[in-house]
Amino acid sequence: MKHFLHLYDLSSDELHNLLQEAIALKTEYKKSGNPPLLKGKSLAMLFMKPSLRTRVSFELAMQHVGGYAFYLGPSEVGLGQREAIADVARVLGGYAHAIMARVFDHEHILELAKWSPVPVINGLSDYNHPCQALADALTILEAFGSLDGLKLAYIGDSNNVTRSLLSLSKIAGMIFSVASPEGFTLDEETLEQADYDKVEITYNPTQAVKDAHVIYTDTWVSMGQEEETEKRRKVFPPYQVNAQLLKHAASNAIVLHCLPAHRGDEITDEVADGPQSRIFQQAENRLHAQKALLVKLLAELPEG
Ligand code: CP
Ligand code: NVA
Repeated sequence: MKHFLHLYDLSSDELHNLLQEAIALKTEYKKSGNPPLLKGKSLAMLFMKPSLRTRVSFELAMQHVGGYAFYLGPSEVGLGQREAIADVARVLGGYAHAIMARVFDHEHILELAKWSPVPVINGLSDYNHPCQALADALTILEAFGSLDGLKLAYIGDSNNVTRSLLSLSKIAGMIFSVASPEGFTLDEETLEQADYDKVEITYNPTQAVKDAHVIYTDTWVSMGQEEETEKRRKVFPPYQVNAQLLKHAASNAIVLHCLPAHRGDEITDEVADGPQSRIFQQAENRLHAQKALLVKLLAELPEG
């Protein structure tokens, strides 16, 4: 694996190994700290959108293993505007050992990877969010001991996070059930590319969560869709993850949300802060899962 742009960049075995490495790094970090596995390595973090978790978890993941990360915000680089993406990729690749980027148009992350001499990590695009899915997988693994055969129900807007959960479900052998309102379901192209027979698409949230082990939701209005807020807030309320909906899930079900949450919209306080919620463990796991990813991508490169 040179780049990490899509969850399918990992085979099922590679995903399994990465999750085991994340667990080992997490345990080690909490006990005594991690050794400097990435001493002298640097990560350029390029953000065209806001972030809390992605920025902080990548920066600290590098620091914990002796490396260094630096942040570039939207106004500094002007990706594809102030400077061609191909040029940004080659310039940053001359300075840093890897580039993590959060972009609007998915083509931009592909273009960065095409030209970059160093690994490129997708820190979210309008199309997908594979780093999030790694942390989600780790959280599910911690709760159930394995992923294979579990039912993951996603309720709400079929978006970048949903696409990465579909990929994760296929790689890990989970049943993936999605309930979205009409007009907000997964696109045909994504479903065709996934070519996965354990996917259920419905307009009915109760049906989707039936006997599910993992209930997942995300914002109704993703970054870049702010002008659709009013329209979306009219359509999505029946897709709220609340205590009533949770009753239809398996009794040991856990609740996930990639965050940031819009409490009272896609999830209630009662559920987000309730005993089945794992949302803060999930947020913390961004750190551990990405540390394992960085070590996998960078450990073999020469220091510099
Ligand atoms: N879940 C996630 O990617 O959060 P940020 O947007 O804060 O990075
Ligand atoms: N779907 C959300 C995820 C945020 C982490 C967005 O793209 O804004």
